[in-house]
Amino acid sequence: MQGFQSVFGIGSDMYYRHVSATICRAVNKTHTRTMVLFVVAVFVGAFISTRWIDATITSSKSTKPILTAKAVLHEPSHQNPTPPKKPSHHHQNGSRAPTQPKILKTHHKQTPQNPLLCPSENHTRTCPARGRPSPTVRSYDDVDPPSCPDYFRWIHEDLRPWKARGISKEMVERAKRTATFRVVVLDGRVYVERFKRAFQTRDVYTLWGILQLVRLYPGLVPDLELMFDCVDWPVVMSRDYGGRNASAPPPLFRYCGDEETLDIVFPDWSFWGWPEINLKPWESLLKDLKEGNERVKWMNRKPYAYWKGNPAVAPTRQDLLKCNVSERQDWNARLYAQDWISESQQGYKQSDLGSQCTHRYKIYIEGSAWSVSEKYILACNSLTLIVKPRYYDFFTRGLMPVHHYWPIREDDKCRSIKFSVNWGNSHKQKAQAIANTASNFIQEDLKMEYVYDYMFHLLNEYAELLTYKPTKPKKAVEICLESMVCPARGLEKKFMVESMVKAPKESSPCTLPPPFDPVTLRVWLRRKQNSIRQVEIWEKGAWESQNTKL
Ligand SMILES: *[C@@H]1O[C@H](CO)[C@@H](O)[C@H](O)[C@H]1NC(C)=O
Ligand SMILES: *[C@@H]1O[C@H](CO)[C@@H](O)[C@H](O)[C@H]1NC(C)=O
Ligand SMILES: *[C@@H]1O[C@H](CO)[C@@H](O)[C@H](O)[C@H]1NC(C)=O
Ligand SMILES: *[C@@H]1O[C@H](CO)[C@@H](O)[C@H](O)[C@H]1NC(C)=O
Repeated sequence: MQGFQSVFGIGSDMYYRHVSATICRAVNKTHTRTMVLFVVAVFVGAFISTRWIDATITSSKSTKPILTAKAVLHEPSHQNPTPPKKPSHHHQNGSRAPTQPKILKTHHKQTPQNPLLCPSENHTRTCPARGRPSPTVRSYDDVDPPSCPDYFRWIHEDLRPWKARGISKEMVERAKRTATFRVVVLDGRVYVERFKRAFQTRDVYTLWGILQLVRLYPGLVPDLELMFDCVDWPVVMSRDYGGRNASAPPPLFRYCGDEETLDIVFPDWSFWGWPEINLKPWESLLKDLKEGNERVKWMNRKPYAYWKGNPAVAPTRQDLLKCNVSERQDWNARLYAQDWISESQQGYKQSDLGSQCTHRYKIYIEGSAWSVSEKYILACNSLTLIVKPRYYDFFTRGLMPVHHYWPIREDDKCRSIKFSVNWGNSHKQKAQAIANTASNFIQEDLKMEYVYDYMFHLLNEYAELLTYKPTKPKKAVEICLESMVCPARGLEKKFMVESMVKAPKESSPCTLPPPFDPVTLRVWLRRKQNSIRQVEIWEKGAWESQNTKL
C-alpha cells in the first residue's frame, strides 16, 4: 500500500507563515499538486459517491440501506420546550436526564422520505426551523458513566489561565486577531462567522464535527461562543501574559499547542475525514487498522524503522533522510519521500490502510507542526519511534515514553534510530508489548466516542467559564446538516454522510476526571523526563562500548 503515509507529507504539515524561502517553494509545488489531486479525487469521487448518496438519501423503502433514511431523520424531539439541565459532572446523581428519556426511534415528525431535504438543484443554505432539542441521555441510577481516559485531565490544564477570572467577551474578541471562524452555540443551534479561508476543507470538517457533537448529545452542549484558528501553529504566547498586571490571554481554539503557548487544543478535522487526500473518517479507519494489524504479525514484519512522508515541510525531516540506508551505512532506517503524482495515479489506495503496517518500527516526526499521521502510526502495532516532538495535540499528552512509544533524539537521529531498532530486535517481547499498548490506546482511548466526549467536556468546561451570555453575532449564519451536506460534492459529501452521527446517544458522556493536583502532575512530567533520559543513557552506553571495542 503506497498511498497512505505519504499522504501526510502535507497534512497538518501545511504551513502558512514563518517558513524559509526554500521550504516555501518546495511546499508550493506540493500545494499545486495537491490541487491537481484534489480535482482528480473530486472527479472520481463525484462519480461514485453522488450516485450512492442520491440513492441513500432517497431510499426509504429499502430494508438495509447503508445509511437509512430513518437514521438520518431522527432529529431530536422538539416537543418538549423545557430547557434541559446542564449535564452534571460535578455531582453524578440526579439532574442529568429527564425521567422519561425521549427515545428517538419512536419519535416521528417529519416523513422518513428525503430526510436531508436537499433540494435537487437549488441548494438552499437555510436551516429548517426546529426548537431546542431535549436530551436523550438516559440516567441509569445504579451505573455511573465510566471515567474518561486520563488525557482528558489536560482539559483542566488548557483552561487554567481563565480559571480565576473567567472568560469575558473582551477576551474572546481579542482571539479574533488570527481566528479562522467564530462559533456560537445557542439552544443547540450552531452559528458560524467566518473571517478567512482555511487550507483545504479543514474548517468545514471541524465545523462538521461540532455539529455532530450537538447531534450526539442533543440539548447538552451549552450555549457558548469561541474563536477557532485552523492554522497549524499555536500563537498565544504565554510570556505575553505572565506579569502580575498582564491582561488575560485570549482563549483561542486550534489543533495543537506547545510548551510556550496557551492555545486550547481541540480534535483536528481528520476525525471526520480529509477528502483532499482520500482519508476516511476515523471510525472506519480504525476498523481497517485493526483488521490490517492481524495480517502481518509483528514477528513477521521487516525488522527496520520505516517512514514515508514529505520531507519538504520541515528541516528536521530533511535531516531525517540522512539516516536512510545506503551502500556506505545502515542505520536500520528505511525512509521514503512521497510522490504525490504517483500516489494519485494509484488512487491513494488508502482503503487498504492496514497493510501499511509492514515494519516492526515506524517513525513519527513532526512536520511544520504536529501531524495528524501520529494516530495512524501509533495504531499500527509497530513500535513507534517518536522523534522528540515539540507540539502536542489533544491526546498525545497521555503518551508515556517506553510505555507507548520509543523516544528518539532530535539532535542525533540516526544513531538513536539504530539503537532503538537494535534494542527492539533483541528485546522482542518488550518491543511488542509497547507496540500493543500504543495500538490499544488508539483503539480504545481514542475511539470516536471519546473524541466526542473530549469535545463535549472541553466545551462544557469552557462555557462554564464564560462571564457573559453569548448572543448570535450579526454576521453569523446558522449551519446544520442541510446547509453543509447539500452543497457538498463528491468525496466531501461522502465523508460527511459517512461520519454523520446517526442517532443521539442515550448514555451519558464519560465522567471527566478531576484536574491533576500539582504534585501528581509534577510526578507525571518527571516520570516522562526520566524515561527519556534512561533511553539516552542506554544509548550512550551502547555507543561507548562499541567505540571501545573498535
Ligand atoms: C445520590 O444518590 C444516592 C443513592 O442513589 C443518594 O443516597 C444521595 O442522596 C444522592 N445524592 C444527591 C445529591 O442527590
Ligand atoms: C430556489 O428556491 C426558492 C424557493 O423554493 C426560489 O424562490 C428560488 O427562486 C430558487 N432559486 C433558484 C436559483 O432556483
Ligand atoms: C501594576 O499596576 C499597578 C497600578 O497600575 C502599578 O502600580 C504597578 O507598578 C504594576 N506592577 C507591575 C509589576 O507592572
Ligand atoms: C532510501 O533508500 C531506499 C533504498 O535504497 C530507496 O529506495 C529510497 O528511495 C531512499 N529514500 C530516499 C528518500 O531517498
